[in-house]
Amino acid sequence: MNSKQPVTMIGLGPMGQAMVHAFLDEGHRVTVWNRTASRADALVERGAVRAGSVEEALASNELVIVSLTDYNAMYAVLEPAAHALSGRVLVNLSSDTPEMTRAGARWVAEHGGTQLAGGVTVPPSGIGRPGSSIFYSGPRACFETHRPTLEALTSTEFRGEDPGLAALFYQIGMVMFWTSMLSYWQAIALGEANGLTAADVLPHAIETMTSMPDFLSFYAERIDAGEHGGDVDRLAMGMASVEHVLHTNADAGVDTALPAAVVDLFRRGMDAGHAADSFSSLVKLLKKPAA
Ligand SMILES: NC(=O)c1ccc[n+]([C@@H]2O[C@H](COP(=O)([O-])OP(=O)(O)OC[C@H]3O[C@@H](n4cnc5c(N)ncnc54)[C@H](OP(=O)(O)O)[C@@H]3O)[C@@H](O)[C@H]2O)c1
Repeated sequence: MNSKQPVTMIGLGPMGQAMVHAFLDEGHRVTVWNRTASRADALVERGAVRAGSVEEALASNELVIVSLTDYNAMYAVLEPAAHALSGRVLVNLSSDTPEMTRAGARWVAEHGGTQLAGGVTVPPSGIGRPGSSIFYSGPRACFETHRPTLEALTSTEFRGEDPGLAALFYQIGMVMFWTSMLSYWQAIALGEANGLTAADVLPHAIETMTSMPDFLSFYAERIDAGEHGGDVDRLAMGMASVEHVLHTNADAGVDTALPAAVVDLFRRGMDAGHAADSFSSLVKLLKKPAA
């Protein structure tokens, strides 16, 4: 007899499909449902069980994993069958904001279920692989009960009982990911405008990115201690530097939206009186919305 916990998977985009494969690889019985039913075909051939309706999918197992585009898609799918959430543990691995995640937890609880929210930090190729992890938040006891099953997907990192925390950590990663990637596209555009290929730029880009962890650790300690003194770097120095970046891009005829936004933030820091402070003083500025 199969002692592995059976699971239901709702949402079979690239991520949901990878998750079903990982559960099947570990010997779990998996019931699947997706709006576009044909997305389940290959999984059913591998042994997954197709549910005929969302209601049936919810009724099949206590543990229900959801991987949809966002929480609005989750309401679109689950609202008509909300009564079947009673007694279910809904592990919502759809990305959204912390506030949407908290509202989702309340909505599931109103229907007698329990939500564990997740933030998936890897692409589908990272599911079922060592070294990958998913952030979770929600009731700790519920998480601990289901942790062994969830570890079929990736390692687990419990972030706390506030249901919004997994999404918050996920969004902290994403604000860094998107702006870092955009900075890379800008660097390549600048390189190409000057006759360099992406391959020419790559070694220096890697060197620049791999120097970042030292900066992050150095500033984290000082920021937590409330230290923004200009003993190591000064915003006025940074201001001159970011203007050189802006002008270099403008001279090359490259789009300047990103460097101009950086110059704007530095200028606001200067106007707020931080010229002689470290550029970490911009954190204080960023905590307040622009006037
Ligand atoms: N893919 C990645 O690299 C990655 C990495 C980290 C986190 N994530 C997160 O994981 C989640 C799933 O990712 P994915 O790549 O599989 O996303 P996706 O392609 O957007 O997944 C779409 C899934 O949501 C369903 N869906 C969307 N809107 C719907 C609606 N109104 N009603 C019913 N079903 C709806 C789709 O059904 P149909 O098949 O019928 O269209 C499909 O099952 C997302 O929240 C994403 O942010 C993804």
